[in-house]
This record gives sequence, structure tokens and C-alpha cells, in this order.
Amino acid sequence: MIKILSNIKVLPVLEIESHVDPEKLIGSLIDGNINVIEVTLRNEMGLKHIEQIRNKFPEIKVGAGTVLNIKQLILSIKSGAQFAVSPGYDLELALKAKELRFPYLPGVSSPSDIMSLFKINFNVFKFFPANALGGISYLKSLSGPFPKALFCPTGGINEMNYKQWIAEKNVICVGGTWLAPKGSNDYKEITKKALKIN
Ligand code: 3PG
Repeated sequence: MIKILSNIKVLPVLEIESHVDPEKLIGSLIDGNINVIEVTLRNEMGLKHIEQIRNKFPEIKVGAGTVLNIKQLILSIKSGAQFAVSPGYDLELALKAKELRFPYLPGVSSPSDIMSLFKINFNVFKFFPANALGGISYLKSLSGPFPKALFCPTGGINEMNYKQWIAEKNVICVGGTWLAPKGSNDYKEITKKALKIN
């Protein structure tokens, strides 16, 4: 997972609704120099979209997001997803991803979650919901007991605050929907926002 996230600053989290053209959406992100995306399984089209994007845009890495159980993990892999992300921690799911040697970003929200996942050799986590949990000060507190943990904070991150998060030494990249909010089909605006990331 480190390899996939270490070269990016922002991981766009997408929920592609039916009135949004997935090809235009992904094209607009690619035009904005985005090369890794997370497509959430929050609607029944998620897996189809992953398959479609993989076929049409070999240049972009596609992960499945909001993966809540082993069934969704397996279906994501079958659809061509190159990694999977969960909002939280589930031991069986994390162990299954390990067993399959599939790049997986489990979610954590507490020291206990981190300790459980350390035990099975995970050290890169989605930190969710980042702002609601306590923001940067909470994340800073985690670096004391867990100096080896790296985080992709997500939840409440936007163009105003992402740079502060990225500046933290235990942040590998940040995730969020702000580049392409749910339902957004203003493709030019999406490219414009993506090009602003620096
Ligand atoms: C996620 O699942 O990663 C979040 O819904 C993203 O949160 P955001 O909408 O606050 O960026």
C-alpha cells in the first residue's frame, strides 16, 4: 500500500452517481494530474465503474473504497480494483487481504485499532473521520506511541486544510471527496481543483 500512496498527495474519494459520466469524470481527474483514485462501493454501480475505468484508463490506479466485508473485497478484486480501502477496522477482512496479498488500507480511529492491526503487520492506515476525531492534534498524539504508523487522513479534508495535514510527518497522503464531490459533473471545475494541488 505504501508504494501506491507514497507518490501522491491527494487520493480522490469518488461516489459516482448515475447522472455522472464516469469516463468524463476520470478524464477530468487525469487532466488534473491525478493518477490514483478510490471508487466507493456506496451504490450498486461501484463495481461496474471500477471495471469500466480499468478498461478505459490503464494509466490510472483504481482502488475500491468503502469495502465493508470479505465479499466486497473479493468482488472488488474481480472487478479489477488494484487496492481496497475500508473506513474502519475489521480483523477478518484485514486478514483476508493479507492472505490474498492484496494492497489494503484499513481504517483506524483509535490506538486500539492501530494496535490490533500492528499485530498482523499493517502500518499504513486510513485515519477516518479525520476532522471529527479531533483533527491534526489527535493525529499528532498518535505519533508518540506509534512512530512507525503512517496515515491517510480522510473526512473533512478540503482545499483549505489539506496542506496542513500533508505537512505532518506521519501523513503519507490525504483522502477526500472535495475534488469531485458526490454528484458533481462540472468536469472543468474538477480539473481546475486538481491542478491546484501542490
Ligand atoms: C470517505 O469515505 O473517505 C469520506 O466520506 C470522505 O470524507 P469527505 O467527504 O469529508 O472528504
